[in-house]
Amino acid sequence: MHVGIIMDGNGRWASRKGLSRMAGHRKGALAVEEIIKSCANFGVDTLTLYAFSTENWKRESLEIDSLMTLFESYLKKYLNEFIRNEIRITFLGSREKLSQKLIEIINIATESTRHHTKFFLNLAINYGGRDEIVRAVKKIAVDIEKGFLKSSDIDENTISLMLDTASQADPDLIIRTAGEQRLSNFLSWQSAYSEFYFSKTEWPEFNKTEFVKALDSYKNRVRSFGAVAGE
Ligand code: FPP
Repeated sequence: MHVGIIMDGNGRWASRKGLSRMAGHRKGALAVEEIIKSCANFGVDTLTLYAFSTENWKRESLEIDSLMTLFESYLKKYLNEFIRNEIRITFLGSREKLSQKLIEIINIATESTRHHTKFFLNLAINYGGRDEIVRAVKKIAVDIEKGFLKSSDIDENTISLMLDTASQADPDLIIRTAGEQRLSNFLSWQSAYSEFYFSKTEWPEFNKTEFVKALDSYKNRVRSFGAVAGE
């Protein structure tokens, strides 16, 4: 089962507590750890986390820089644990605009875990669903220009395989925390048939109990993928 999470509400959590926005993100990173560890117990083999969107560059540079440093130190801190637990790390998003230091650790994490098949952890950083589709279309155009592909051969699978999630299953469930009910450019193509779960809990307080609530709600749904339900 593939679960995608829009981790929202770090800032609101922090301001409610009279803390800096970064304190909210740091607490959010602890929630990330708890949720990753819970996945194996509940049949979740792929987890996609929306950590930084293509729109998040509009934030103040101090917050952006601190977030990038947090991603960097998080990856450094947990890389050995990811390797030990046979977790494959994949990055969704464009490396453009990311710092050299972050790109380096992203490349190391991707390379050193690429043979793992037990659990897939996708980190969406500088990610936008539309941007991902634009990049996929460009790759297809290049293949056509080079004569590797004919336009008449393009189908849904051709596009899926050009996305950052190439050859992964689409998300079954997308969770968004902190009460907002929108997709915000997350997995635009892949979410065509996803179920949604909206939690009022802000991300820093999202924990295993909240995660189980979301998974239980998903289990009670009938997914018909456009056919008549129940047939
Ligand atoms: C949204 O909350 C959260 C983010 C833009 C950053 C997400 C980052 C983390 C959870 C930190 C750790 C992540 C990893 C993968 C190590 P917001 O700031 O938009 O909250 P607000 O809407 O309440 O202001």
